[in-house]
Amino acid sequence: MRGAWACFWHSHPLPCTAPPYIYVGALIEFKNVTKRFGAIEALNDVTLNIGKGEFVLLTGPSGAGKTTLFRTIFAAERPDEGEILLSGWNVTKLRRGSIPYLRRNIGVVFQDFKLLGNRTALQNVFLTLEIRGMPARQIRERSVAALEAVGLSDRMDTRASFLSGGEQQRVAIARAVVGAPSILLADEPTGNLDPVLASDILRLLSEVAGKGTTVVVATHDPLVVQTAASDMEVMLDRGKVVGTRRANAVEVDASQEPRNEELQNEEPEAEESEAEVSEAEVSEAEEPQAEELRDEETQDEAAVEEPPEGEAK
Ligand SMILES: Nc1ncnc2c1ncn2[C@@H]1O[C@H](COP(=O)(O)OP(=O)(O)OP(=O)(O)O)[C@@H](O)[C@H]1O
Ligand SMILES: [Mg+2]
Repeated sequence: MRGAWACFWHSHPLPCTAPPYIYVGALIEFKNVTKRFGAIEALNDVTLNIGKGEFVLLTGPSGAGKTTLFRTIFAAERPDEGEILLSGWNVTKLRRGSIPYLRRNIGVVFQDFKLLGNRTALQNVFLTLEIRGMPARQIRERSVAALEAVGLSDRMDTRASFLSGGEQQRVAIARAVVGAPSILLADEPTGNLDPVLASDILRLLSEVAGKGTTVVVATHDPLVVQTAASDMEVMLDRGKVVGTRRANAVEVDASQEPRNEELQNEEPEAEESEAEVSEAEVSEAEEPQAEELRDEETQDEAAVEEPPEGEAK
């Protein structure tokens, strides 16, 4: 399923003349990807293959590069070296104007949620679909179902800023899954949840993967690592992949220092003090989900039939 033109939104495997027309069948390939911030190598020669519908854990201590790896997938960061292919589409060579289309296929649960604090839980979820121009009744039904799935049926009309950290986290998950993305990236999605709720959310994410979405969960919570029924664990340390574990097999890069014990002993890092979620802080969430998508609606009208020109495969 490499580089197929097909319709994600309308759920058929054929080229589609209606937007959005970038289909991501969700095979994620990293080829020797390096991303530097000054002297820091946030990602260092990362090579990785994740199959469609797989449920993958991305583990590693604070600063290992987990969030950076996610950001390169939805093109918020461009690697300095290497390539990232999503179903054969080279994300690193996408034109800026094509990025919003790519992001329609990717649901993101941000580490700090990035909800609109002055909107209700339902409105936060609603917005993702509203931007796509879906009929209002359908948007409402899907949004309500997504919030029910994360156990928030009784908090739908509460402003996000009045919700607890765990409730906000669940709204963020509902918002990420409501658009039925082909890739779901969840950055510490259980960080604010008690063990029972965390296990419910992991089950939910695993079910999402079971329906064909490729789910990648970044975590440094040993409980998640132990309990999640993942297909693969990818261990990062200081930007490098230091090991991968597939179902029952473990492959550790012998050139790296042993990491397993370190990972086991690692204390969950103190989260940054719970940031006040406000409109002002939503810039990054808006980046893939709102502002650019608003731009995108304009582009949709102009760019319906043809795939973007010059996109590298
Ligand atoms: N925009 C940036 N500018 C400078 N340095 C950055 C930037 N983003 C990330 N880094 C650095 O890159 C490294 C990897 O950061 P990243 O946020 O990807 O780690 P992480 O594994 O997600 O950590 P955590 O578990 O704490 O969330 C860190 O050393 C971080 O300081
Ligand atoms: Mg992070």
